Amino acid sequence: MILSLRKHVGILAALASTAYSSPQGPQGPQGTSVLSTSTTVTPLSTAQAASASSTSTSAASTSTVACNNSPDLCSRSYSNITHMGAHDSSFLRDASTQNSIAGNQYYNATVALDAGIRLLQVQVHDLNGTIELCHTYCSLLDAGSLQDWLVEIKYWMDTNPNDVVTLLIVNSDGKDVGEFGSVFEASGISEYGYTPSGSGWPTLQSMINAKTRLVTFIASISTSSTYSYLLSEFDYVFETAYEVTSLSGFNCTLDRPSTQSSAASALSAGLLPLMNHFAYNSLSSSIMIPDVDNIATTNSPSTSTTGALGLHAETCRSEWGYVPTFVLVDFFDQGPSIKTADVMNGITATGRKNDTESDTDTTTNEAKRGHGATGMGPVALVAFFVAALFLA
Ligand SMILES: *[C@@H]1O[C@H](CO)[C@@H](O)[C@H](O)[C@H]1NC(C)=O
Ligand SMILES: *[C@@H]1O[C@H](CO)[C@@H](O)[C@H](O)[C@H]1NC(C)=O
Ligand SMILES: *[C@@H]1O[C@H](CO)[C@@H](O)[C@H](O)[C@H]1NC(C)=O
Ligand SMILES: *[C@@H]1O[C@H](CO)[C@@H](O)[C@H](O)[C@H]1NC(C)=O
Ligand SMILES: *[C@@H]1O[C@H](CO)[C@@H](O)[C@H](O)[C@H]1NC(C)=O
Repeated sequence: MILSLRKHVGILAALASTAYSSPQGPQGPQGTSVLSTSTTVTPLSTAQAASASSTSTSAASTSTVACNNSPDLCSRSYSNITHMGAHDSSFLRDASTQNSIAGNQYYNATVALDAGIRLLQVQVHDLNGTIELCHTYCSLLDAGSLQDWLVEIKYWMDTNPNDVVTLLIVNSDGKDVGEFGSVFEASGISEYGYTPSGSGWPTLQSMINAKTRLVTFIASISTSSTYSYLLSEFDYVFETAYEVTSLSGFNCTLDRPSTQSSAASALSAGLLPLMNHFAYNSLSSSIMIPDVDNIATTNSPSTSTTGALGLHAETCRSEWGYVPTFVLVDFFDQGPSIKTADVMNGITATGRKNDTESDTDTTTNEAKRGHGATGMGPVALVAFFVAALFLA
C-alpha cells in the first residue's frame, strides 16, 4: 500500500509537478501526529509576562537603528511583539517549481526577511539520511536540504546584524536532535542560537547585543543540552487551529498542545501564542490546497472583513489580552501581511530593504510573476482527483 501510494504520488508529481496531497500530510503543518499527546510541556515561569513588562519599559531607544522593522521594538521583549511569519516558507509557487500549486509562498526566505517577515516555518523529512525540506512527500515538492536553507538564512543574518529571526521546524519524520544539531553547526547558523535562561524573554536589543538572535522551535523534538538552542515548540508556544477551510473559520481557541485546556491557561503558564491564519480549499477529505482565490481577503489588514488577518489578530489580542506573538500566513507578500504586524506592534516601519507595501496590487504582481497563480490546469486537476483515490 505504501509502495503503491508512493509510486502513484511519484507519477503524479512527474505528470504535472503540481500534484498535491493534503498540505499538512499525515502530520499536520506542525507535525501533529509526530507530536504524541504525551509530550511533556514544561511551562515557563508565570513571571514571564511580568519580566517582559519590566524589561520592556526600560529606556526607550533613542537610536534610529531598527530592530526588526523599527527602533521602537529594540527595548521591547521578544515575547511581547508580533513576529509575522511565512507558513511553509520554503515551498514556493514560482518558476523554480513550475508554479507548483503545492507552493504556499511566492517568494523565498531572503525576500521574506527583506520584507520584514521574522518567522520562517518549514516542514522537514528524511531523505536517505538527509534532513530535507519536503512538502508532505519529497516526490511532491523537494525544496532542498535544511542545511542549504539555513546557510541562506545565516547569510542574511550576517548582513543584517540588528535583526532577530525565529524558525519553526516541523520534524515530520522524527529526526533526532543530534541530527538537527549537526546540520545547524555545519551551516554555521548555530552561532546565533538563543538558549532561554528561564527568567523570561529578553528584549530584542539584548539578544542583538549578545549575538544570540536566532530562536529555533522544533515540533517535535527531544531536547539536548548539547544543542540547547534547539527548543521543543510546545514547551514555549501554543497554537490556534490550522486546518481552516472557510474564511469564517478563524478563531483564537487553543488547538495545541493538548496538555493545555485553553488559551488562557496556556498564557498563564507562560506559553506564547501562535495564530495560524491561512485557509485551504478542500478538494476531498484528504486533499487541500491553499485558498489562493481569497488571498487578498485572507491577508488583508482590514479589521472589519470576515476572514481578514487584521480582524483575526485584533480579535485574538482582545480575547487573550496579549498580542499574537507569532502569526503564520501563506503568500506573505499579499495583503501585505506585514501591515497587520505593524499595527499589532504599534509601529511605522523603517529599515526594510524591500517594503512590499508598495507592491500590493495583485494584478501587477501576477503580471510580474508572469503567470496566473490562481488557476489549476487540467492536468493538475486530474492529478488531484487521481491522488484522492489513493490518499483517501
Ligand atoms: C507589551 O508591550 C506593550 C507596548 O509597549 C506594553 O504596553 C505592555 O504593557 C507590554 N505587556 C507585557 C505583558 O509586557
Ligand atoms: C531568493 O529570491 C530572490 C528573488 O527572486 C533571488 O534573487 C535570490 O537568488 C533567491 N535566493 C536564493 C537563495 O535562492
Ligand atoms: C535514496 O536511496 C534510494 C535507494 O537506495 C535511491 O534509489 C535514491 O536514488 C536515493 N535518493 C536520493 C535523493 O539520494
Ligand atoms: C476554531 O476553529 C477551528 C477551525 O475552523 C474549528 O475546528 C474549531 O471548532 C473552532 N473552535 C471554536 C471554539 O469555535
Ligand atoms: C521587492 O520584492 C519584490 C519581490 O521580489 C519585487 O517585485 C519588488 O520589485 C521589490 N521592491 C523593491 C523596492 O526592491
